[in-house]
Amino acid sequence: MTVSSAPGKLYLFGEHAVVYGEPAIACAVDRRVTATVERRDDDRLRVRAPDLRLDSFAAEFGERADGGVAVDADEGAVAAALGYVRGAVESAYDHVGERAGLDVTVESDLPLGAGLSSSAAVVVATLHAAVRAMDGDIREETLAERAYRVESDVQDGDASRMDTYCTTVGGAVRVEGEEGERLEAPELPLAVGYDGGSGNTGELVADVRELKETYGFAADTVGAIGDIVRAGRPAVESGDLDEVGRLMDFDHGLLSALGVSARSLDEMVWAAREGGAAGAKLTGAGGGGCVVALDPEGTALRALELAPACEEAFAAPLDREGVRAE
Ligand code: MEV
Repeated sequence: MTVSSAPGKLYLFGEHAVVYGEPAIACAVDRRVTATVERRDDDRLRVRAPDLRLDSFAAEFGERADGGVAVDADEGAVAAALGYVRGAVESAYDHVGERAGLDVTVESDLPLGAGLSSSAAVVVATLHAAVRAMDGDIREETLAERAYRVESDVQDGDASRMDTYCTTVGGAVRVEGEEGERLEAPELPLAVGYDGGSGNTGELVADVRELKETYGFAADTVGAIGDIVRAGRPAVESGDLDEVGRLMDFDHGLLSALGVSARSLDEMVWAAREGGAAGAKLTGAGGGGCVVALDPEGTALRALELAPACEEAFAAPLDREGVRAE
């Protein structure tokens, strides 16, 4: 049996603008998806995912007494959600050149489908554990690239390299186009607030694209988010938390101007700021889901917990480790 885990990630700066080639900075956070893979005696693939809910797809799985899989979700959603696990296993088969029967169990302590890259963590952890279960080995760059291709296939070409790269290598990373690099970052005391919902990434990206194509000032706003990322890099690397927080606030303002925030996200952002955060913003596509606060005093977490819009809040310190064998 092999067990691998991969962290979730959140955007410190640059979501949406990254779609148009601007840089973005993200951090792996200390919440993980765990994949357990066991070889079977036959050549079948069996997937157990007690809490699988990925991006806009939701599915719940429970075991039947006869050993099959009882599925409590609509078929299209199941096919889509299973696509991530299946795609990861197919990629592992291709990598090791063998098709062994496997039992795969996927568990998550990330809020799923909420902008913390749960789908990327599922793919990375599953691929890593499946390769190892077949006595193979996989390098980080290959794993990140393979995982990106799986996400891209499942999401009809609409995937971000940032998610799979950050989840694979861990720590703080900067992505621009096809290039990813690790940043030297000191401790980042981050807190996450989750409203219990999620936005539709495809629709939100399409809405921003339309705004950008209609109005020059919207295009300038996208460019200004890129400028925030460029200013944010030295602030992150030198550990200037006041500056990082100020830039996070600014980024949230620009994302709001682009129409991707939501009342619940704004409420959580303001609760965190009033609770002592150095800065706070939505993270990911927006529309609902999570906000991230920079919380040097540890007080913004409590403020988030008390915010009516917040269903769950947790400390999410930077996780320097990416995928790992457990
Ligand atoms: C979604 O998590 C982040 C976006 O920038 C889309 C993407 O980069 O693929 C909105």
